[in-house]
Amino acid sequence: MVSKNEIIELEITGMTHEGLGVGKKDGFAIFVQGAIDGEKVRAKIIKVLKNYAVARIEEFLEKSSSRVEPFCPFYKRCGGCSLQHMTYEKTLAFKKQVVTDNLARIGGLQDIKVHDTLGMKDPVNYRNKAQYPVGMGKEGPVSGFFARRSHDIIEIKDCGIQHPFSDIARDLVLEHIKKYNIPVYNEETGEGLIRHVVSKIGFNTGEVMVVIVATKPEIPQKQKLIDMLKTKIPNLKSVILNINNTRGNVILGKENITLYGSDTITDCLGSLFFEISPLSFYQVNPVQTEILYNKAIEYAGLTGEESVFDLYCGIGTISLFAAQKAKRVIGVEVVPEAIEAAKRNAVRNRLTNTEFYVGKAEEIVPQLYKEGKTADVVIVDPPRKGCDEVLLKTLIDMAPKKIVYVSCNPSTLARDLKYLTANGFEAQESQPVDMFPWTGHVECIVLIKRAESRMK
Ligand SMILES: C[S@@+](CC[C@H](N)C(=O)[O-])C[C@H]1O[C@@H](n2cnc3c(N)ncnc32)[C@H](O)[C@@H]1O
Repeated sequence: MVSKNEIIELEITGMTHEGLGVGKKDGFAIFVQGAIDGEKVRAKIIKVLKNYAVARIEEFLEKSSSRVEPFCPFYKRCGGCSLQHMTYEKTLAFKKQVVTDNLARIGGLQDIKVHDTLGMKDPVNYRNKAQYPVGMGKEGPVSGFFARRSHDIIEIKDCGIQHPFSDIARDLVLEHIKKYNIPVYNEETGEGLIRHVVSKIGFNTGEVMVVIVATKPEIPQKQKLIDMLKTKIPNLKSVILNINNTRGNVILGKENITLYGSDTITDCLGSLFFEISPLSFYQVNPVQTEILYNKAIEYAGLTGEESVFDLYCGIGTISLFAAQKAKRVIGVEVVPEAIEAAKRNAVRNRLTNTEFYVGKAEEIVPQLYKEGKTADVVIVDPPRKGCDEVLLKTLIDMAPKKIVYVSCNPSTLARDLKYLTANGFEAQESQPVDMFPWTGHVECIVLIKRAESRMK
């Protein structure tokens, strides 16, 4: 055991899935923020719990060759990135290991081939969406990002992973707030007006949307704000006021008022155009999205003859990638506005072999199956909590030839794979894709095939 404030020498022998270094003292696990496997550190114990302790690095005794100086001056405090103390290559290897460990430990898949993570050539300024909280600092209104494990706002300038227009939009809204003494939101009391500044950027079209999240449907001097945004952001296509007067951490409310320009912006991926609205999901790293979708379509192995289900389809992005190569595609998504956009996206891209349904995949797919609608290939891209068991049960009964599982959470992916592989499917291979460079988030795709024994 160790005790609080004790200074120990520690060899870092592993890393947690959050990127903390792990060492052992007399068999007792000690987690060290910012340490890399292979390093030796002198560390101070700052917290002791029943099964592990947490320590802070006091001094490096041996540094990893993968250690680099973080490029962001706010790195230590900001809750956004957590892997900037490693080389990019090391972060890619780390993410591959996270996938491998989860598939083995939770999924029971010891032998599955996990490919090297597909990384970015230039992993900077890659995000097309930023969400900046607005609040009151010591010297007045502030906007930036929450500090690690806290809701204190750090005023970050020139964030290295955001598009520069996002920072510009945030700064201009903040300037406007200060100039006209507009009250900012107080999370504790629920009072105040402006809560967040959200930006969305079509990387391939250059179109920009700025969303101001407020508790009421009016902001003072809005025309002056719009004029300022128009001057500084040349391709500004849309300014939206989003109303959120609920308590809690959800950023966007349900109601949107278009203050300037159009209700949506457009982006393209490959040869396809997509409409992006304030509320619907759109992958945040467009460069890697094309790589992710192309890999998913490659795994689907479409020849033009297949019926495809794209479940959790958002605005129909994967559906339309698949529709270019399949006979028919059915997309299912729970957000009604996203399905409306998916239908418009299909029309705009002249893909007539698609159908879209609003509702929970676990409710719609059993219904479709009852009506005799089945798929040769099912693509799933669920949120972090993974697939509902009812959906997985239906897929087991339906027995498509292939399931392509796109996941942003390797642990729920592994849980779902365990269930599928115990029920007539084989997980063949896995491809991690770095959608979120420098953060601990890991995205990967798994190719799952119906077992030979179940082939009809
Ligand atoms: C990770 S996103 C993927 C979206 C899309 N495939 C893409 O690449 O843009 C997950 C999507 O699942 C939707 N969703 C969440 N729970 C759902 C459910 N139970 N049934 C259907 N869709 C759901 C979310 O609204 C979101 O659009």
